[in-house]
Order: sequence, then structure tokens, then C-alpha cells
Amino acid sequence: MIVFCLSIVFFFNCMHTEEEPSQAPVEKIPPRVFVPFPQAMFAQNGCSSCHGDSGEGRGSQNGLPDSILMPNFQDVRSFRHGSDKASIIRSIQYGIPGTYMKSYSHLRRTEIEALAEQIIRLRKTNPSF
Ligand code: HEC
Repeated sequence: MIVFCLSIVFFFNCMHTEEEPSQAPVEKIPPRVFVPFPQAMFAQNGCSSCHGDSGEGRGSQNGLPDSILMPNFQDVRSFRHGSDKASIIRSIQYGIPGTYMKSYSHLRRTEIEALAEQIIRLRKTNPSF
């Protein structure tokens, strides 16, 4: 009888431990990540899909032909429409007509400024400008 009772207790203990994995998904919720506003704007508005997360010029949008002159935001010399903040803001606001670079005039001024700041932050050459 005692053996029988012990085996029942053991059985329910086993069942109890088997229940634990069902709680696992709750624990697996990833920790909160805080992305700086300019960086978030760059990703959320699809800029990185063409320009790349680090601005090097090739994002996940691999379908673009190789002939497209994609600027490298890391290199100030590769800007063709001005690399100062005001020019970058203009490029974003009005786009580059006739190219894949569309106008983002629907964005707020603060959002466009944040995008320009992000592009300048990606710079690796001539960081003084
Ligand atoms: C569909 C692809 C695509 C997307 C999306 C895109 N761009 Fe562009 N962008 C281009 C191309 C291509 C050029 C180069 C145009 C040219 O000069 O021929 C360009 C040029 C630029 C330039 C001017 C660089 C220079 O040469 O002076 C800036 C600034 C820029 N993009 C910022 C952005 C920002 C910010 C976003 C997101 C809000 C964005 N782009 C989204 C394709 C894209």
C-alpha cells in the first residue's frame, strides 16, 4: 500500500514537472529594446531597405539594378546632392526626381531632421562635416 501511495505521489510529481514547459513562452518574451528615434525612423520608413542599415548602399532591396547609383552614406564623397544637413533634408523632403529616391514630404519636419541626423551619424569619412 505504501509503495502504491509513493508511486502515485511520484506520478503526480512527474506530471507537475511536465507542466513547466507550458509556462516557458511567458518567460521567453524578449527584453525591451530601446532604439534611438533617428535610427528607428531610418528603419521604419524603409530607408534601410535600399540604403542598408549602416548606409553602405545595399539593403535588402536586392532587386534594384546594379546600375543604380546608390550613395554610400558612410563616405561623404559619395553624396551627389549635397552632404550638409540642409541638403540631406532637401533630398529626403523632395526626393531625387527621376530616381528610386522618392519624396518623403509626408513626414513631419522633426522626423526628416532625425533621418538627416541618422545619415550623418553613419558617416565614417570626414566626420567633421
Ligand atoms: C527604393 C529605394 C530607396 C529608398 C526606400 C530610399 N532611398 Fe534614398 N536614395 C535612393 C537612390 C537610388 C538614391 C540615389 C539617387 C541618385 O542620385 O541617382 C537615393 C538618394 C538619397 C539621398 C541623397 C544622397 C546624395 O547622393 O546626395 C538621401 C539623403 C537619401 N536617399 C535618404 C533616404 C532616406 C532618409 C530614406 C528613407 C526615408 C530613403 N533615402 C529611402 C534609393 C532609395
